[in-house]
Amino acid sequence: MSKVTDLFARAQRSLAGGVSSSTRVNRALGHPLYFARADGCRLWDLDGREYIDLCCSHGATLVGHGDARIRAAVERALATGAACSYENELQTELAELVCAMVPACERVRFVGSGTEATMHAIRLARAYTGKPKLLKIEGNFHGYHDQVMFSIGTPADQLGPESSPTAWAASSGMAPGLAEQLVLVPYNRPDLLKAALERHAHELAAVICEPIYFNAGCIRPTPEFLAALRDEPRRHGVLLMFDEVLAAFRMAPGGAQQYLGVTPDLCTLGKAVGGGYPLSVFGGRREIMEKLMPTGDCQHSGTYNGHPTSVAAAIAALKIYGEPGFYEHIGAIGAELFAGMNELFARYDVPGRVEGLGARFGIYFGDVGALGNYRDAVRHDRSLMLRFIRGAIDNGVYFHDYGGGACHHGFCAAMTSTDVREALERLEPAVASLVVAAEAATV
Ligand SMILES: Cc1ncc(COP(=O)(O)O)c(C=O)c1O
Repeated sequence: MSKVTDLFARAQRSLAGGVSSSTRVNRALGHPLYFARADGCRLWDLDGREYIDLCCSHGATLVGHGDARIRAAVERALATGAACSYENELQTELAELVCAMVPACERVRFVGSGTEATMHAIRLARAYTGKPKLLKIEGNFHGYHDQVMFSIGTPADQLGPESSPTAWAASSGMAPGLAEQLVLVPYNRPDLLKAALERHAHELAAVICEPIYFNAGCIRPTPEFLAALRDEPRRHGVLLMFDEVLAAFRMAPGGAQQYLGVTPDLCTLGKAVGGGYPLSVFGGRREIMEKLMPTGDCQHSGTYNGHPTSVAAAIAALKIYGEPGFYEHIGAIGAELFAGMNELFARYDVPGRVEGLGARFGIYFGDVGALGNYRDAVRHDRSLMLRFIRGAIDNGVYFHDYGGGACHHGFCAAMTSTDVREALERLEPAVASLVVAAEAATV
């Protein structure tokens, strides 16, 4: 008897697929894991089983679950009535903090989700440049709205040529004609980026990309690709937009743009910016942002934008990221966890490799070799990864599999060195079981 599987059966009778969000089904389990409680770096499921969390709300709870400082800020906002759909002092305070921390942000706006952030930033880029199209990097993920749900999780046999990747639709129901609004280029191909800009700059509003490609695990830009991203769009009158919904605040208080030393024209910030509460941000250069109504003619509005509880949580979270030692701690925990997992894979001769930066990481299984872009990541051994995740969950470490290719995982700042050692102890039988399964398969 399991309350988790019982709830899955019950949930499916009212929630479509038994989940509030399609990717919440953990593909390694075939169902979502329903949690009853969370605290720091730990989760407890409905059956009372405890897990060390290496998903961390897909990166939203960077501080840790139920942090007392964030909770106190939310409670203060609730105590004042939490009136939504009005302007208040907290929104200005948060805007000032973001603008002080994130290099690209001279002006910002708040939305609920990362999906809304990229949707509005893309419209703004079109409004500002007067041009219709978007250059998207193959495989990079920018949320669930129609304009960007192409070329994500493309099956390996449908990628098309590198010079012209397939605009594979990642969902049914996409409006016809939208794929033609995209120009696609593989990550880490400065030559193809330059060629595409030469050819399409006259119709391109922006280049949008994940500055660190965490949605394929963790792939960093080469210096040549980064230089091309920094120089080429500007040279051609095309805006550069960094989608830092996943990357922001992982490795530096000013996000990946600060870490990489490249300031885009526009950027989106999500997940960790809200400290576990629903808030995302888009921002950029003053003259671009002033194209938004009421100073300009580009619409961005929403009843719940800048909700007082989320804004209060975000202020508390950003102040925590700004505390001395925060990123030193993240760096030390990451170094210990990533090295420990790589050592486990080596000890058991399992073809697994951890690549991480800041508080997020990918694990690549199989013989993937050099990792430059989606085409490399899609070759990893997904079935071995699912077996690993299943084993990890059985042994008390939660990883999430979203479906698609390599996944991103992560830890939170509440994790200590003792927690890392405990996680590695719990993971050892999961890694060992991969060897036993492989040996059994060859008998
Ligand atoms: C880079 C990136 N952009 C946008 C999104 C969409 O954000 P949300 O799930 O908050 O809509 C995500 C979500 O994972 C993301 O990783």
